[in-house]
Amino acid sequence: MLFHKVLAIETSCDDTSLAIVRDNGWVDAVVSANQDLQHRDFGGVVPEIASRNHTINLLPLLKVCLEKASVNWDDIDGIAVTSRPGLMGSLIVGLVTAKTLALSQEKPFLGVNHLEAHLLAPFLRDEKYQPPEQFEYPYIALAISGGHTHLYRVEGLGRYVVLGQTMDDAAGEAYDKFAKMMGLGFPGGIKVDHFAKQGDVTAHSFPRPLMNEDNFNFSFSGLKTAALRKLEKMSDEEKERERENLCASYQEAIVDVLLSRLDKAVDRFQLPRAVLTGGVSANSRLRARGMEWAQKKGVELVVPPIRYCTDNAAMVGYVGIQRLNRGEVSDHRLAPSPRVAPDDFIYEQL
Ligand code: KG4
Ligand code: ZN
Repeated sequence: MLFHKVLAIETSCDDTSLAIVRDNGWVDAVVSANQDLQHRDFGGVVPEIASRNHTINLLPLLKVCLEKASVNWDDIDGIAVTSRPGLMGSLIVGLVTAKTLALSQEKPFLGVNHLEAHLLAPFLRDEKYQPPEQFEYPYIALAISGGHTHLYRVEGLGRYVVLGQTMDDAAGEAYDKFAKMMGLGFPGGIKVDHFAKQGDVTAHSFPRPLMNEDNFNFSFSGLKTAALRKLEKMSDEEKERERENLCASYQEAIVDVLLSRLDKAVDRFQLPRAVLTGGVSANSRLRARGMEWAQKKGVELVVPPIRYCTDNAAMVGYVGIQRLNRGEVSDHRLAPSPRVAPDDFIYEQL
């Protein structure tokens, strides 16, 4: 059987998202409910609140999604749902909903690896975005979000070689924790991005951990500690006065580290294509410097639009439909997992 259209469900963290996606990557509709306001007072995502909100949002969003895509169940060939990795309570809500819909509508369903979905997001398309004409496997991908900072060689559907990853904090965490120290609120990445626009990137010095080491790993905890030490020595007025400069200088350290790793991987594997994906790739400085780097280097850099970089169900639908069309299907015993499965990725000794 060929799958032409799937319904996709994403609830791995704090965004509730549904989409209708076609086998060629076309997104008929994607609808999401963001929970930032509910978590703001706690300075981070509270798992219990996230899963409760998924239960409230999911079915009303399903109705909106089907209406927006102008489809009914006869048009839908299967269901794709994020089953790993993520917050357990959040994953359970999405997975149980997918299983129930699959049973009641008599459709096959497939559990999807959320990180694989981020990696293939550049293949999505809609009225405003499409990948460059010649874009194809293989490529180097940097997946950067609140929970992950991983560098991959993407060789084809299901073949993802992990080149390196963070040893401690994720890049998004480095942004969020700095924003918290600065009293900018949650989620912090977008706030740091905003204030940094008016700042001088050379005003303060911050370390670039592991940048010159001969591997593809990342570390951001030293940078975070350096920021904490610096801020401890500053008065509240000084911090306020220097807010833009501090954000710009701190952000520059993160961007330098990320791009230097990407550069190294492109050289090492002689690949002319690269992708930035995950929530942090929404960062305006990273996007601008990434494009500059790519032009100088002669690399085709694809950064999907922000709606497909941050958590969304469309990317889950794309992976789901490709794999369903390869004959894969989940059964109703599928359990969610906070971690990836052992054969989700290839770990190469470099
Ligand atoms: O992929 P995502 O939406 O969710 C996870 O799977 O984690 O990524 C969320 C992360 C957060 O840490 C957030 O602060 C960061 O992405 N982020 C940004 C920006 N927008 C979101 N970081 C830097 N600059 C931004 N503009
Ligand atoms: Zn994500």
